Amino acid sequence: VKITIIDREGTPHHVDAPTDMAMNLMEVIRSYELAPEGTIGICGGMAMCASCQCYVQSDTELPEKEDDEEAMLSEAFFVRDNSRLSCQIPITEDLEGLQVKLAPSEE
Ligand code: FES
Repeated sequence: VKITIIDREGTPHHVDAPTDMAMNLMEVIRSYELAPEGTIGICGGMAMCASCQCYVQSDTELPEKEDDEEAMLSEAFFVRDNSRLSCQIPITEDLEGLQVKLAPSEE
């Protein structure tokens, strides 16, 4: 699916994310190297670090937050109403047209 990811410098990247590889959005961001190594995905996708936080800028229908994502976002920095942990968003056809912006690094 076609997704737009705006990096921390504000540059948009249009990527084609595979739906058949059981990837999540954090892994896609990492695979395209859209954030420096060590500043995203620190907990490995366990909803325990918030380094993968992003702001959802399209009105794409996303899966509801699970309790662990809610809990992590309640403690993280730079959280906004449209914050999500990208590691908790599986890549599916439903994400077509999604636009997200990476939150600033806490490092
Ligand atoms: Fe740690 Fe998403 S990678 S919360």
